[in-house]
Amino acid sequence: MSLRLILAGAALCAGAAALAQVAPQPAPAGRAVPLPVIGNKAHAAKAGPADGRSLFHEKCAMCHGPVGMGTGLLARRMDPAIAELEKRDDLTPDYIQAAVRGGIGNMPWMARGEVSDPQLAAIAAYLSKGKKP
Ligand code: HEC
Repeated sequence: MSLRLILAGAALCAGAAALAQVAPQPAPAGRAVPLPVIGNKAHAAKAGPADGRSLFHEKCAMCHGPVGMGTGLLARRMDPAIAELEKRDDLTPDYIQAAVRGGIGNMPWMARGEVSDPQLAAIAAYLSKGKKP
């Protein structure tokens, strides 16, 4: 290997080292940005019926709350007083799970990445008020 090649290589290495020193920007002291919390890992791992209510509010209430579009559309085809899913007493777990996984009417289906099976089971148990499948 010629001296020129060795020198060129050394120069490249020095350049790379200089770049590596510049690339990672250390956060200025006292200004650490908190990482966003994505999803609720505790819920995703294990959900019991006791979590059904909070999971319903987390995953469904934006559409099925008092002013949600799900409530609005359901109010067109049933007594508006019971258009909110939480006010129903005729929903079974099977029906709820089928509606969520398959979609129903104007409701888009929801994948397991969005609502896990244990989460959906907990929501279904909550909304069906303990009814059998
Ligand atoms: C993006 C809005 C949206 C979300 C989120 C949503 N829904 Fe819905 N859902 C709707 C709409 C709209 C309808 C009414 C469908 C129709 O009749 O066209 C509906 C209907 C339903 C029905 C059928 C009720 C009946 O009497 O036939 C069930 C059950 C249901 N949703 C459960 C759920 C559950 C459980 C969740 C949360 C895991 C959920 N939905 C999340 C929009 C939503």
